[in-house]
Amino acid sequence: MKIRSILSFTLICALATVLGVHAAEKEVSTELEDKMDEINGAYRKLGRQVADATKNADSIKQVGVIRTNAMASMKLEPKKTKEVPAADQAKFKADYQSKMKAFVADLDKLEAALKAGKNDEAATILKTLKQDQEDGHKEFRKEKEKKGKKKAPDAEKK
Ligand code: HEM
Repeated sequence: MKIRSILSFTLICALATVLGVHAAEKEVSTELEDKMDEINGAYRKLGRQVADATKNADSIKQVGVIRTNAMASMKLEPKKTKEVPAADQAKFKADYQSKMKAFVADLDKLEAALKAGKNDEAATILKTLKQDQEDGHKEFRKEKEKKGKKKAPDAEKK
């Protein structure tokens, strides 16, 4: 009986340790990452339907989702900021904000093309957004994240 109790206790301790390690490994996402995940979902949907004029109403809705989250992202701070020397952080943040602003300006162009029913043009503008993403990530996203999470450079599958 005593041995069984000891064994059960040992098992519970082992289980608690394993679960604890897993919980520690699972990083809590930043607010910016959450916004980016929203952008990613809408961007991927656009990728599938941007050329299809019958889906323009929904495509315009997806542009709205991206814009809302991009505007919110502008006010947040990339994790990488803390890795930048203190003296350069203000410039880093200003550069990040102006890149995000340029991204929103491209979203406006995409929305205008969709509203005008110019789907070929919209598809071309979507490529500009992809470039914005690649440039933005190259400059403002932590290097370790990119490798560790093994994500594709463009529409990232989650
Ligand atoms: C189509 C456009 C974009 C897509 C689909 C996209 C997607 C993503 C995804 C999926 C992540 C990872 C989120 C996670 O780990 O849960 C991410 C992270 C990040 N993205 Fe974007 N992104 C886009 C545009 C941009 C732009 C334009 C910028 C900068 C101006 C940017 C800056 C960042 C940063 C800094 C992170 C790391 C988050 C942090 O530091 O907390 N992204 N993005």
